[in-house]
Amino acid sequence: MSDTVQELEGSELGTKEYWETSYKSEIRNYKDHGDVGEIWFDEDSQLRIIRWIEKQEELISQDDAIIDLGCGNGMLLVELARESYSNLTGVDYSPNAIELARTISKDQDLCITYKVADLLNQTDVKALGNNFKVVHDKGTYDAISLNPEDPKSMRESYMRSVAHLLKEDGFFILTSCNWTQPELVKSFERYFKLYQVIPTPSFQFGGSVGNVVTSIVFCKIFR
Ligand SMILES: C[S@@+](CC[C@H](N)C(=O)[O-])C[C@H]1O[C@@H](n2cnc3c(N)ncnc32)[C@H](O)[C@@H]1O
Repeated sequence: MSDTVQELEGSELGTKEYWETSYKSEIRNYKDHGDVGEIWFDEDSQLRIIRWIEKQEELISQDDAIIDLGCGNGMLLVELARESYSNLTGVDYSPNAIELARTISKDQDLCITYKVADLLNQTDVKALGNNFKVVHDKGTYDAISLNPEDPKSMRESYMRSVAHLLKEDGFFILTSCNWTQPELVKSFERYFKLYQVIPTPSFQFGGSVGNVVTSIVFCKIFR
């Protein structure tokens, strides 16, 4: 494998226990106050992704299959459903996340399929099929990269899963706050090539310019 990026330091965000506990309290908050919980990297980054998908109307139609990996509360899919995308699936390995996402979409009368699936478990991944036109990930590859035990092989397993799920002419949209654009391109080069970068706000510090969040679109290498 040609992936030579420096591994991140492990954190509790790389464990299933952390997410189960976190979504358990988000379910309570939703039931008590109607608060849908955290949208990772804020609503603007979600909106930028949705606008990018909408702009590809000649390549991505509203009934194409779209899957959100590590969907959490499912808010990206909720917004896509409101924009009339109709073939939407959300997966997460946290049963509490899926319970929260199902409750929110039911309350909003939206038709979104949610499944509990571990993206590092090849049996779970095979059961999802291999026909997704858009595979989306916001923050999930980041979480997997923070696994305290063996992040490198987990990242590799994740990449294989995405390659399986994505159609030949599909798009993989990835948003990360832990990896830079060159690191993502390097890590995924065995399976995907860079198709486009979705511009995100940049900051300037001490003469250098950087981005807090990177949103990039990959396509399969033999496209
Ligand atoms: C940073 S949160 C992002 C949630 C959501 N995508 C968003 O943007 O608001 C990371 C999500 O990835 C999920 N996750 C982490 N590892 C996973 C795995 N191996 N399989 C499926 N889901 C996973 C977590 O349960 C959590 O919901």
